[in-house]
Amino acid sequence: MGKVIAIDGPSGAGKGTIAKLLAGKLGFSYLDTGALYRAVALALREKGIKPEDSDEKIAGALKGIGIAFKDGKVFLKENSQLPDGRDVSEEIRTTEMGHYSSVFSARKVVRDFLLDIQRDASRHSDLVAEGRDMTTVVFPDAWKKFYLDASVEERAKRRYLQLKEKGISATESDARKDVVERDARDSGRDIAPLRKADDAVLIDSSAMTIDEVLENIMKVVRAGH
Ligand code: DC
Repeated sequence: MGKVIAIDGPSGAGKGTIAKLLAGKLGFSYLDTGALYRAVALALREKGIKPEDSDEKIAGALKGIGIAFKDGKVFLKENSQLPDGRDVSEEIRTTEMGHYSSVFSARKVVRDFLLDIQRDASRHSDLVAEGRDMTTVVFPDAWKKFYLDASVEERAKRRYLQLKEKGISATESDARKDVVERDARDSGRDIAPLRKADDAVLIDSSAMTIDEVLENIMKVVRAGH
């Protein structure tokens, strides 16, 4: 098992940007677990699965789904002739898949399905993993733990700019609604809800630059063995 730096936080807190830069700086692999939940949501929707469907039906649909995360990209293996599978990294970034990933991620059957895939990522290399339950459920014994937060206003603004940059049409108020709704669902669910682990270092990035956040994290990383 490699060393794991686990980062959790609400949507739009900057986890992806920070985790990617941190992994690059340290020479660790990077795992975006939100991308895995988004890919599952995409695959389930393509199979016609609805949020109100039974656990049995969802479990049946998951049986045929293969998911892999490699070099910052997420692949669906089912029905693909390509060796790595179908690259869905762009398709999963819509607000629609943000919504469905949050909805389906509240189901135990979906979380169980992704557990080993996430843990396997640390088997052969050091890892920076980000999501909602990295510090609490997936890597409770992580080498370093962080909870990255920011105000709703700041997160909504970042999410809006991110969508715009990707050419996805959304207004600022759509982005705010998305952030608020997903916060409530991701923190309010029964299984693996988003919460700060007692031993995670809290960083509020509302008024910080990316470099300042990274520097704060690096101070903690450098201090530990
Ligand atoms: O990080 P993201 O916005 O791409 O994540 C999409 C959704 O996936 C998020 O709203 C909740 C879910 N998720 C989760 O439940 N657990 C994780 N570790 C990561 C994401």
